[in-house]
Amino acid sequence: MKAILFDQPGDEDQLYIGEVPDPQPGPGQVLLHVAATALNRADLLQRQGKYPVPPGGSDILGLEVAGTIIEVGEGVTDYAVGDNVCALVNGGGYAQMIAVDVVRLLRLPERLSFTKAAAVPEVFLTAFQALHWIAGLRSGETVMVHAGASGVGTAAIQLAKHAGARVIATASAHKHQPLFDLGADHCVDYRQGDFAEAALEYTDGQGVNVVLDFVGAPYLEQNLRALARDGRMVSLAALGGARVENISLAPLLLKRLQLTGTTLRSRSNDYKARLIADFREKIWPAFADRSLKTVVDTIYDWEEVADAHRYMASNANVGKIVLTIGD
Ligand SMILES: NC(=O)c1ccc[n+]([C@@H]2O[C@H](COP(=O)([O-])OP(=O)(O)OC[C@H]3O[C@@H](n4cnc5c(N)ncnc54)[C@H](OP(=O)(O)O)[C@@H]3O)[C@@H](O)[C@H]2O)c1
Repeated sequence: MKAILFDQPGDEDQLYIGEVPDPQPGPGQVLLHVAATALNRADLLQRQGKYPVPPGGSDILGLEVAGTIIEVGEGVTDYAVGDNVCALVNGGGYAQMIAVDVVRLLRLPERLSFTKAAAVPEVFLTAFQALHWIAGLRSGETVMVHAGASGVGTAAIQLAKHAGARVIATASAHKHQPLFDLGADHCVDYRQGDFAEAALEYTDGQGVNVVLDFVGAPYLEQNLRALARDGRMVSLAALGGARVENISLAPLLLKRLQLTGTTLRSRSNDYKARLIADFREKIWPAFADRSLKTVVDTIYDWEEVADAHRYMASNANVGKIVLTIGD
């Protein structure tokens, strides 16, 4: 089969379409014909040699796919050849075929296209894990979602609203309207002043119960100030840097805060299977009735993968960047 490959870590122009052996489905797996995959920041880092592939993962880029089952492995009874599905995968998505454990599959509802479905798994499961499994979000609470226009941010805004929470999103000003359209109650341009002050003002001085952070060091002091008593912050990335100096941890004690962090990719197969099962039961039906949706910014043909990576690096997107996989 063909796949998008790179021989040396480096810039976007290292990427090319080449030949690799066809994958074979093992017991409990299906073989997918991949119609579409979607980009994640981790792909850019991996291409640059800055994201070692976790043990057992594929060297081929791509953490999520949508496509059609073309073969079922031994013991698979719940799925059949011809079923359309999407899946969270341990790499290998930028390819014409992939073997996937059935516990990773989400069956596509009618009218959910491959390009939209490919954009679901990584960002929605990341946001679901952060909001529900880690932060324990409750209805009526207020969540601040940083990088609100990112793929994960657009998923988190919707999931928080779906859970009955109030959402404050931070993003560049020109990206605010699409975030209001997704349900954000208040948007803050983090480039124009102090977002903690804006959050405190919006919550009548109470602060926010949950922060989803992607920016890291430059945001920590404001995040600590913005959090309400018993607030929880989940750190998902450090886009602005990871090293912090001269910040008082007193708010942790005084407000009984919890600071946590996670990466979905490094979680065990068993953890991912349990997370997907919970998501399949509690959240996936909302894609069928369209109360939740993927936000797809741009769709590229896989021949244009270098342009797609450049576009993501430019921070211009609102939501996901999708690649269609050619024959
Ligand atoms: N921990 C996990 O399990 C996990 C899983 C998936 C993704 N992630 C991480 O989550 C982040 C978002 O991923 P994605 O694929 O959804 O990203 P994305 O769609 O590429 O969006 C990133 C957005 O973040 C904002 N941004 C970038 N640098 C910033 C900075 N220094 N300060 C403030 N905002 C900044 C930009 O929007 P503005 O124009 O509004 O600034 C940018 O468009 C990435 O860092 C990714 O690695 C973590």
